[in-house]
Amino acid sequence: MTVKVAVFASGSGSNFQAIAQAVVEKRLDIEIACVIYDKKDAFVKERAKQFDIPAYYFNLSHFSSKIDYEVAILNQLQVLDVQLIILAGYMKIVDATLLTAYPNKILNIHPSLLPLFPGKQAILDAFSAQAQKTGVTVHLVDAGVDTGEVLEQVEVVIADDDTLESLTNKMHQAEHKLYPKVIGDFINKGV
Ligand code: GRF
Repeated sequence: MTVKVAVFASGSGSNFQAIAQAVVEKRLDIEIACVIYDKKDAFVKERAKQFDIPAYYFNLSHFSSKIDYEVAILNQLQVLDVQLIILAGYMKIVDATLLTAYPNKILNIHPSLLPLFPGKQAILDAFSAQAQKTGVTVHLVDAGVDTGEVLEQVEVVIADDDTLESLTNKMHQAEHKLYPKVIGDFINKGV
């Protein structure tokens, strides 16, 4: 049976697009049941439209608590029978409601070789630190920030002539290749 997933995003959604494209091209056997986004103008909703995938908007400030916010999302996921959550640029910490409902079934992609450079500005942080390499990590999500079990990492060299922009482009290319592959490997192990 094809695994049903929800992709959570807050912004551009280029990783969502890479995953959706892999599904269309039959390189990845999942069904993307929906996109969940939390920023009104997130470009990911336009990308979802192009793939005919429903996108649901949840704004934390419309709820009286983070718990209520996550319960509302969870209800939507349960209606759609979602089995796996894929975070792709989702800029919120996942709390207990979702973690308990999806134990070891939430994946995230982070633009560094964790545990190096956790947090929101990982590409900039590696570049500013004049590191010779950085990379991309796909990991399980736990209650910490970028602390869950690492599933796979790929290195990205920071060349002497790299600018922040060229490094960011290289990082995105690496992400778009790695994430669909790791999702496929994870699912093949049985969700
Ligand atoms: C990516 O760099 C991802 O690693 C990080 O957030 C960014 C999302 O980019 N978690 P996009 O919205 O998928 O284009």
